[in-house]
Amino acid sequence: MINRTRRLRKTENIRRLVREHKLTIDDLIYPLFIEEGENIETEIVSMPGIKRFSLDTISKELDEVVALDIPAVLLFGIPSEKDDTGSETWNDDGIMQQAVRFIKKNYPSLYVITDVCFCEYTSHGHCGIIHENDVDNDATLVNIAKQVISHAKAGVDMVAPSGMMDGMILSIREALDNTGFPNLPIMSYAVKYSSAFYGPFRDAADSAPTFGDRRTYQMDPSNRDEGLREATFDDQEGADILMVKPALAYLDIIRDLKNNFDRPIACYNVSGEYAMIKAAAEKGWIDGDRVMMESLLSMKRAGADIIITYFAKDVAKLLLKK
Ligand code: PBG
Repeated sequence: MINRTRRLRKTENIRRLVREHKLTIDDLIYPLFIEEGENIETEIVSMPGIKRFSLDTISKELDEVVALDIPAVLLFGIPSEKDDTGSETWNDDGIMQQAVRFIKKNYPSLYVITDVCFCEYTSHGHCGIIHENDVDNDATLVNIAKQVISHAKAGVDMVAPSGMMDGMILSIREALDNTGFPNLPIMSYAVKYSSAFYGPFRDAADSAPTFGDRRTYQMDPSNRDEGLREATFDDQEGADILMVKPALAYLDIIRDLKNNFDRPIACYNVSGEYAMIKAAAEKGWIDGDRVMMESLLSMKRAGADIIITYFAKDVAKLLLKK
């Protein structure tokens, strides 16, 4: 037989030599939920192993992240006061800003990224200002600019806008350039679907909408071509990294972006993807570690350069054991 593909599968060493994709700690960003208040260390029931911390309890988590050599964290702030505009997002003394200052002071090597959105900060849980029962795009852009400038002043390394407002990347780029932060990069949640996979996150971040849903700003899961359009606009507006979210059910979109854009591509392995694997593993129905690694590897194979994942610590521990 001329072709026998099994010849290159015979031993682990030849398999290592022909292996096309690898998952490493260098690929991973770990999300952190930081709540305003004291002495908070709340388990998120639907996300085993993930907690909400206040700033006075978070050090041991950060010590672990640094010890495991995870390069970056993505911060979500949970304020004690919400209002209808989410004005706490641009309070220079807000929980997000305090968290950035705390981490950059005590863990200077850790790369700190902030999620830029309003849903954790608005009383109605939507990602911007409400006008006639819908999010007002252009009024929200004004507030997004205020929010990113406040994060920049606190010392963040990168901002990651997740609200799916039209023109948000350009507004942010201009705001940063005009206030002395031309070198601060933007990772855009460029192609973000209106997804049921965010369920556990909304409990974790206390950000579920009190009325309606997010389908007037997040994308319809039926659409693929539109993903390219979304990414094109963000690319043109100056996003430094383009992200696809969720990841596992949207691997085709990750590959589309990889093939079409000369930018690093990120994906967000979201809360529901994490919860499904943890739940099935707890029941003993799957091998949790192997399914975790296989899922994350599929994202790399699809074309992701960077993966945001609640599994980051688990992966790091597993890789260190080898
Ligand atoms: C919005 C935001 C969401 C997630 C990250 N940023 C939720 C949403 O759009 O409702 C979801 C992350 C996850 O499910 O892990 N600020």
